[in-house]
Amino acid sequence: MEKNEMEEQKEEDDQIVNPWEVAGKDGGKIDYDKLIDKFGCQRLDESLISRIERLTSRPPHVFLRRGVFFAHRDFNEILDAYERGEKFYLYTGRGPSSEALHLGHLIPFMFTKYLQDAFKVPLVIQLTDDEKCMWKNLSVEECQRLARENAKDIIACGFDITKTFIFSDFDYVGGAFYRNMVKVAKCVTFNKVVGIFGFTAEDHIGKISFPPVQAVPSFPSSFPQLFPGKDDLRCLIPCAIDQDPYFRMTRDVAPRIGYQKPALIESSFFPALQGETGKMSASDPNSAIYVTDSAKVIKNKVNKYAFSGGQDSIENHRKYGANLEVDIPIKYLGFFLEDDAELEHMRKEYAAGRMLTGEVKKRLIEVLTELVERHIRARAAVTDEMVDAFMAIRPLPNMFD
Ligand code: TRP
Repeated sequence: MEKNEMEEQKEEDDQIVNPWEVAGKDGGKIDYDKLIDKFGCQRLDESLISRIERLTSRPPHVFLRRGVFFAHRDFNEILDAYERGEKFYLYTGRGPSSEALHLGHLIPFMFTKYLQDAFKVPLVIQLTDDEKCMWKNLSVEECQRLARENAKDIIACGFDITKTFIFSDFDYVGGAFYRNMVKVAKCVTFNKVVGIFGFTAEDHIGKISFPPVQAVPSFPSSFPQLFPGKDDLRCLIPCAIDQDPYFRMTRDVAPRIGYQKPALIESSFFPALQGETGKMSASDPNSAIYVTDSAKVIKNKVNKYAFSGGQDSIENHRKYGANLEVDIPIKYLGFFLEDDAELEHMRKEYAAGRMLTGEVKKRLIEVLTELVERHIRARAAVTDEMVDAFMAIRPLPNMFD
């Protein structure tokens, strides 16, 4: 039998990145350069970032400045079109598999919120309750409940209701959306999904037939209430790079059914507290900071579990300094401490051994506590009526204003 992409990936470099599994070679770090080559996406370089700055007349988001979003597909074309005065829409999503989100889950949504504000464009958010029901041992009803709960966390990120449509697959799939799914499905052979996703003959057919569901929100005609007669409107998908296989498939099919390929802007993974070896694990609550964690829990997790690149004794630390390459507190500050000058100062002092791990952790605890407390307040203000309003199938007459 022909080896599929998945098996080749394992044999060649032992690094695994797909929607269900993220693991570095020999339990080490993810090699993102290799991933870009392997997937065939492009690096998001300085010139693209300054172009974003120029076009939006605002400073680029921290996640751009610090390389959190580091890869793309055709993002330059989206900017070309935008420069000509053409609009686009954003598409992102979440698989509602757990009640509480951790910080890693918030990253694409924080970034999408910035894109929506900076470019003043509409956004569709897919809640793949069907996906999680098929992959996890969860009932249909439980996934639907989790989808609504997660919608509250998403809304708490500050999305503009006049420009945002949130939908659950269980509720929304049908009509024009379903017609697009069938168009896509007809273009993808079993061999093809085996190659892209590594499905086997033992996987149930729900999994095998799922990819079109995640593909078609990339096409404006899947949302006739939003984009009637706008079949050429381009789509930009902010996501973590593990979702790339879905959109490789989508981009492959799009021209064959007369649609535009979606563009992508892709992030690296938010590391676990224990160190940078992949994504955080939902099964180990001590590997992540949750958006529900109290100040006390955050303090305890950071102090107890955050992997330190500092030396084992103060003496050695003063002498050799910290290894920033493996230090989690510094990595986390790179995501969430907005002040570039302060971060640079800390990196320098810590690497030189003049600043101690305890001091870096103390600053991180402050930053995370503020972020999480802000999120908890915002989420508490999200009512059931607001969830219904975001999820109502409706036109968005002012979505480009
Ligand atoms: N499959 C994603 C997950 O499990 C959810 C998702 C659906 C998504 N559509 C998306 C993520 C588009 C990013 C972009 O979380």
